[in-house]
Amino acid sequence: MSTAIFYGSSLGNTQFVADKIHARMPEADCLPVNDLTGDQILKYDNIILGTSTWGVGNLQDDFELFVDLLLSLDLSAKKFALFGLGDQQTYPDTYCNGMGKLYHLLKEKDWKVLGFTSVEGYDFSESEAQVGDEFVGLALDEDNEPDLTDVRIAQWVKSLPF
Ligand SMILES: Cc1cc2nc3c(=O)[nH]c(=O)nc-3n(C[C@H](O)[C@H](O)[C@H](O)COP(=O)(O)O)c2cc1C
Repeated sequence: MSTAIFYGSSLGNTQFVADKIHARMPEADCLPVNDLTGDQILKYDNIILGTSTWGVGNLQDDFELFVDLLLSLDLSAKKFALFGLGDQQTYPDTYCNGMGKLYHLLKEKDWKVLGFTSVEGYDFSESEAQVGDEFVGLALDEDNEPDLTDVRIAQWVKSLPF
């Protein structure tokens, strides 16, 4: 089974994290979303998508463009997992909304999204990435909690069923 890590990153934080995830699954391919073609996306069985949040609760810029391509494909046989970067302190009401927006777009298609994580241990008010007491993927905060990133990644990668 082949796995891809596709990320969009404006200042490098999401890329930094994508590289860390890649180091824990070296058999995967790790690529920025801006250069991808439909054929490249279709090659993989498992697709990990990583976006930061910009504006007030929006997808990262490259992702805004990439989702149109993604949603134009038939990816119903794929397994998805998401990771998101945000800033709980400055944007407590829209923490990791980018990841949440992505999740809801995939769910509208009825595509399989795995790799939910507990919201326990985070400090925010609202997030579109929260469903019940879980995030819809791995939520990270390189602005305020960079020291927690490695352990959060390690637990998440271990929990992924691929
Ligand atoms: C102008 C601006 C708007 C932001 N808006 C949000 C937001 O609404 N929610 C959030 O959780 N983080 C927000 N962030 C924080 C970024 O998502 C965070 O710094 C992230 O690590 C950036 O990752 P990147 O360098 O890969 O793009 C914002 C940051 C900036 C500078």
